[in-house]
Amino acid sequence: MNLPNLLEAKKRNNQEVLVKTNAYIVENNLKNLGLNKKYYIKTYGCQMNEHDTENIKAILEDMHFTESTDMENADLILLNTCAIRENAHNKVFGMIGRIKNLKEKKPNIIVGLCGCMAQEEVVVEEILSKHNWLDIVFGTHNIYNLPNILKKAMNNKKIEVEVLSCEGDIIENIPVKRDSKYKAWVNIMYGCDKFCTYCIVPYTRGKQRSRQPEYIINEVKELIKQGYKEVTLLGQNVNAYGKDLNIDYKMENLLEDVAKTNIERIRFVTSHPWDFTDNMIAIIKKYDNIMPYIHLPLQSGSSKILKLMGRRYTKETYLELYRKIKEALPYSSITTDIIVGFPNETEDDFEETLDVVKQCKFDSAYTFIFSPRVGTPAAKMQDNISLEEKNERLQRLNQLINQYSKEANEKYLGKIVPVLIEGYSEKDNNKLMGYTDTMKLVNITGNKDQIGQIVNVKITEIKTWSMDGEIVNETDYVSI
Ligand code: 5AD
Ligand code: SF4
Repeated sequence: MNLPNLLEAKKRNNQEVLVKTNAYIVENNLKNLGLNKKYYIKTYGCQMNEHDTENIKAILEDMHFTESTDMENADLILLNTCAIRENAHNKVFGMIGRIKNLKEKKPNIIVGLCGCMAQEEVVVEEILSKHNWLDIVFGTHNIYNLPNILKKAMNNKKIEVEVLSCEGDIIENIPVKRDSKYKAWVNIMYGCDKFCTYCIVPYTRGKQRSRQPEYIINEVKELIKQGYKEVTLLGQNVNAYGKDLNIDYKMENLLEDVAKTNIERIRFVTSHPWDFTDNMIAIIKKYDNIMPYIHLPLQSGSSKILKLMGRRYTKETYLELYRKIKEALPYSSITTDIIVGFPNETEDDFEETLDVVKQCKFDSAYTFIFSPRVGTPAAKMQDNISLEEKNERLQRLNQLINQYSKEANEKYLGKIVPVLIEGYSEKDNNKLMGYTDTMKLVNITGNKDQIGQIVNVKITEIKTWSMDGEIVNETDYVSI
């Protein structure tokens, strides 16, 4: 049994990160472990977790498990969890309660918890004390070893906990079963060294480890061969890419090299304002296949709160960066993340946040109430704002955000924009859906032959969270 340890997870060492191309293996005696068995996996949280799920699915299918979209029918149930806020945590424990009923009826099913919550000491303690009927718990650094973990769980009647607190090497041969045939997540780095005071990620995902550029470029070239149109370069803090490598190669170099592969669309998430360089802006401007869409978390508009958060920028430097990006890329859309109710946030501080929102008029924003995470410095700060006050601030903020989202969308009315058609619309199966270059969701009347293509779409109606449009034949689109 390997239990998580927060103090260990906090340490950063200078140990060289090795690139391993053969660490993932499914031994012959494990290859048929899943024969005639079905798995169901539920994913919580960010894109990093979604992509991990794509890896987990491929590993399970290497062992001949088949996917089930119905939990009740599965022989193996996995919850790939998120630790970022209390409500993600509560949802998972609610789900565990539901699965317990199922396990009582079908005691042979294997139930596992993985992802960021598995890396948290408090969670594993709770599982061991209150829910030790679970069969496996494995961490974000242990995914490649899933075949062996499963085998142990299937042979033992005891709960199997495999959570390494110290990140390991970069494993380059983990298989992947991608959800989409047209757009793909590509990890460019793992972990984060920023240690913003509210954030659990540097503990759950470990120290920053960038993938070697050639592996990333080769993955993109392979995706092009398979017909993929879009890649999203993934990392907790992508602008810091390369800083931990022994070569002089940064995010701007990677963006340029990925652009030169001629993949049709490149996106990248998530950016930190601290590492966003002028050179990066210049590269985004230079290449048409780097999408004019930037997610630039603000977190707070108050320099005092930003300092308490350990964000390393001020209200003024954020606004300056925003201005530079918009000047170079006037057509771009910029979205953000904002936390309200951070300890010691006064009404004046909150109004500074509203002021930045008014100045930037973000295309959209994810807004959150501060959630203390055990082990982070902010969790120890005296939280002196009532829940009522926090909720009230969130509402005021959301009202403003929604107003600007709608205004940003309204600029698209009647314009023709490029959309990568991904499939059928969730809400209306007679319609197709896709995203513009600027990451706006569009529902379209069209036919299924157009799925997987980038087409020109005339925007006919604006809604708060999406737009409607129709496919047109003009070859040029009108930029906004
Ligand atoms: N409480 C509330 N929101 C948080 N985020 C990260 N940690 C916390 C926390 N402890 C938000 C940040 C981040 C987004 C992914 O989640 O805004 O950018
Ligand atoms: Fe993703 Fe962070 Fe949530 Fe983990 S804690 S799933 S890295 S958002």
